[in-house]
Amino acid sequence: MQRPSSIKPAKGKLGVLLPGLGAVATTTIAGVFLARRGLAKPVGSLTQLGTIRLGRRTENRVPKIGELVPLAKLDDLEFGAWDVFPDDALLAARRARVLDDRHLDAVAGELSTVAPMRAAFYPEYVRRLDGTHVKTAPSKADMVEQIRADIRGFRAEKKVDRLVAVWCGSTETFLEKTAVHQSIASFEEGLKRNDPSISNTLLYAWACVKEGVPFANGAPNLGCDIPAVIELAKEMYVPIAGRDFKTGQTLMKTVIAPGLKARMLGLNGWYSTNILGNRDGEVLDDPGSFKTKESSKLGVLDSILEPAAHEDLYGNFFHKVRIDYYPPRGDAKEGWDNVDLFGWLGYPMQIKLNFLCRDSILAAPVLLDVALFLDLAQRSGFRGIQEWLGFYFKSPMAAEGLQVDHDLFVQLQKLKNTLRWMAGEELITHLGNEYYD
Ligand SMILES: NC(=O)c1ccc[n+]([C@@H]2O[C@H](COP(=O)([O-])OP(=O)(O)OC[C@H]3O[C@@H](n4cnc5c(N)ncnc54)[C@H](O)[C@@H]3O)[C@@H](O)[C@H]2O)c1
Repeated sequence: MQRPSSIKPAKGKLGVLLPGLGAVATTTIAGVFLARRGLAKPVGSLTQLGTIRLGRRTENRVPKIGELVPLAKLDDLEFGAWDVFPDDALLAARRARVLDDRHLDAVAGELSTVAPMRAAFYPEYVRRLDGTHVKTAPSKADMVEQIRADIRGFRAEKKVDRLVAVWCGSTETFLEKTAVHQSIASFEEGLKRNDPSISNTLLYAWACVKEGVPFANGAPNLGCDIPAVIELAKEMYVPIAGRDFKTGQTLMKTVIAPGLKARMLGLNGWYSTNILGNRDGEVLDDPGSFKTKESSKLGVLDSILEPAAHEDLYGNFFHKVRIDYYPPRGDAKEGWDNVDLFGWLGYPMQIKLNFLCRDSILAAPVLLDVALFLDLAQRSGFRGIQEWLGFYFKSPMAAEGLQVDHDLFVQLQKLKNTLRWMAGEELITHLGNEYYD
């Protein structure tokens, strides 16, 4: 990829299209409305609060990220959505029970104007959901055309200058990549004959990229990470990213595991269990959807610890992940981790981690940042997989055959160096030696 000679300015309005107007989407939208009125702070968002060091440490140049690169302003965001239920963002947010009434009441008027478009929904991919606010179409190819018409309609009606889309829909059942996913031609053929390997998320991803709209996948199911979408995204000069927002337990795992590895401490086992009671938890109670989530969560440790290169330390650890649907907790998820590690001479030790988190409170700033950075990427002429956005995902996308970086701090360096590179600033190596000559 070429270093951009210039980045187009973030002029006019940015439309943020969200397939899935549930807990994460409504918490994000309400948060943006509150933040732009100064009623709450966008805590957790790098684009809003993060700074970036530039040049040598002696220069003391540490602007906010938004001062280094031109990001869309919160005031310029216009939200759109699709959902299988007709509830507007206010009703959906009240139902999700993430935010208090004092917050929702303060932006109730604005929230109620965000009404979802009818969803493209084939129920066989999400067995625990039974919505009626859905489109009908003779074929999946026709369904894609309907989503494309929605995108064009939104663009015209809201008079937005640019668009991005982030899948915030329910986790779909586990699907293997098949021949139909391999090329643009095979995928288009598959759309016409309603191939069962083409799920709802893939329909939205295809429609968005066809419309030149950058797309990210916040869920663990297949989305924009199939060869056909990657090829189309390159052809259309559209950035894509995914998959599965990195929030609670996996976020902690990608903080702690690199620490153990950095100190060459060994691992015998890592047992993770969660309870959560929101609709996401209900959907994940279905074994097909859980399998999708599990595969996204399990990959992290192997990639960080590299068992093949460190047989003595990580050659034989047991990794287990459980999620239990427990309605009383709603969105207030609780995760327990038991880590069996070993140190000098093989002596065993344990870490117990009990994270009482809030799923959507952790996911909302991630969704906001991904949307703003995708837009920046497009204005910078980037296309295809945006590896630098891997910071935000449990299963980050990378080019075929490339080792994926899961270590949160490696991912952060990659993201910040990409911003420096975009802006024509020197990359920072953290060598330090240059200060002692
Ligand atoms: N909250 C987190 O911390 C977190 C972290 C990582 C990933 N995720 C993923 O983000 C997604 C959203 O999470 P959530 O908590 O908001 O779930 P949610 O159940 O509250 O919302 C999902 C919404 O998607 C809708 N939907 C399902 N299929 C659709 C389709 N084909 N078209 C349009 N709408 C559709 C549902 O009706 C529902 O309103 C889930 O896949 C979840 O696994 C969440």
